[in-house]
Amino acid sequence: MKVDVILGLQWGDEGKGKIVDVFTPHYDIIARFQGGPNAGHTIEFDAKKFVLHTIPSGIFHRSTLNLIGNGVIIDPFIFINEIDKLAETGVQACENLLISSRAHLILPTHRMLDAISESLKGQSKIGSTLKGIGPAYTDKFARNGLRVGNINEKNFMEQYRVLKEMHFHSINSFSANLTGLTFDGLSFDAYEKKWFEAIGRMKNFRMVEGEQFLNKSLDEGKSVMAEGAQGTLLDVDFGSYPFVTSSNTIAAGVCSGLGISPHRIGKIYGVFKAYCTRVGSGPFPTELNNETGAVLRCNGNEFGSTTGRPRRCGWLDLPALKYSIMLNGVDSLIMMKADVLNTFAKINVCSKYKINGQVKDEFPFDLSNETLEPVYQEMNGWNTRLGGIDSFDALPAPLSEYIRLIEKETGVPVEMVSIGPDRVQTLKQ
Ligand code: GDP
Ligand code: IMO
Ligand code: MG
Repeated sequence: MKVDVILGLQWGDEGKGKIVDVFTPHYDIIARFQGGPNAGHTIEFDAKKFVLHTIPSGIFHRSTLNLIGNGVIIDPFIFINEIDKLAETGVQACENLLISSRAHLILPTHRMLDAISESLKGQSKIGSTLKGIGPAYTDKFARNGLRVGNINEKNFMEQYRVLKEMHFHSINSFSANLTGLTFDGLSFDAYEKKWFEAIGRMKNFRMVEGEQFLNKSLDEGKSVMAEGAQGTLLDVDFGSYPFVTSSNTIAAGVCSGLGISPHRIGKIYGVFKAYCTRVGSGPFPTELNNETGAVLRCNGNEFGSTTGRPRRCGWLDLPALKYSIMLNGVDSLIMMKADVLNTFAKINVCSKYKINGQVKDEFPFDLSNETLEPVYQEMNGWNTRLGGIDSFDALPAPLSEYIRLIEKETGVPVEMVSIGPDRVQTLKQ
């Protein structure tokens, strides 16, 4: 058996959570391979809405196991909050959830360092979610990090103390003003106390060597789906650096984030919105700072699932989409939020970039290049509601034409279209 992959092709929030939930009944195991609580994955069904940050989006199907892989970083406080919120609605996540002992921990001081790093950057700040992502991955690669497997060790407190002291050494060397800095509304000391309580509770969860568990499961014929967080354009190597996250969000990250060989990668599904959004700072060629952008934000309810920040909105960007497809080797495209364009008589799609007066269709090294402007192709909108449509064949002609254009430009079939947030509002080719 192979590991299929669902990942985002834009700047995150494409609707990965919804699609993983839709696919889950066909898989034995869903495994998150990177990122941390910077992610916010929304799942809606039976008039209920859930937002997951650390827990894989397969958690609502009792017969599927969910693994938080070694490539993920976990804030115990946020993780336990998620567990408790699910429990309030009757979902006992601990029953079908496994945690890789190699996953790294986000410490309270990582969140402090994240806030300081952003404040020191001033105008050029990344717009981080302030969940400590950059500093926690930095410690992983600097070989200072603490891992989930360490929490059961006798000297865990000592390991924590040493790393915290190292962090405070850096924190004190910055002249950052920390007064008023809170963590989910709590002072540092209060947050740290809750963090340790959460560590205590994490010990009750099933910890596994994720790589052994997954490879054995595949050998036994179990089906596995890897769930990506963020999006390809936020990848630390290939995204719009430095306005990116700190992990490899692309398909290659599945191997290192779960401990499986490239030979074991199966079908790769790329999720993208029928338009584009971005939250946080950084270049965004097709951004619409006008009424049209505001309509997209309003129709699409484009406010961050993790931070509540308004998302920047713009037209679909084909050069960026093609770049993402190339990096991931996408086999199948899934178009989300087509319904958000329902009210438009005309829609634009960026087919090329103009850089220094020259037309290009490649994603450039410097997306912030001031001369870069999108070259648009105008298309007819469908200007009609999609509610009630239950098959690809019944889609309005202009939407079918939009899909055909994307397929022609990318060379990849659009096998699924989502026309609403609910799990049932999903059409398969
Ligand atoms: P993720 O991070 O990729 O899982 O995406 P988010 O959950 O952050 O953001 C996607 C948002 O769009 C969520 O609020 C979803 O409920 C919503 N959504 C997903 N698919 C659709 C769709 O087809 N139409 C509409 N209108 N909303 C959708
Ligand atoms: P999901 O999984 C959208 C963005 C932040 C910021 C940059 C770096 O829900 O699609 P970080 O906290 O990682 O240091 O922030 O990346 N970002 C996301 N944007 N969706 C996400 O996750 C994101 N995770 C991080 O807004 O610009
Ligand atoms: Mg999200």
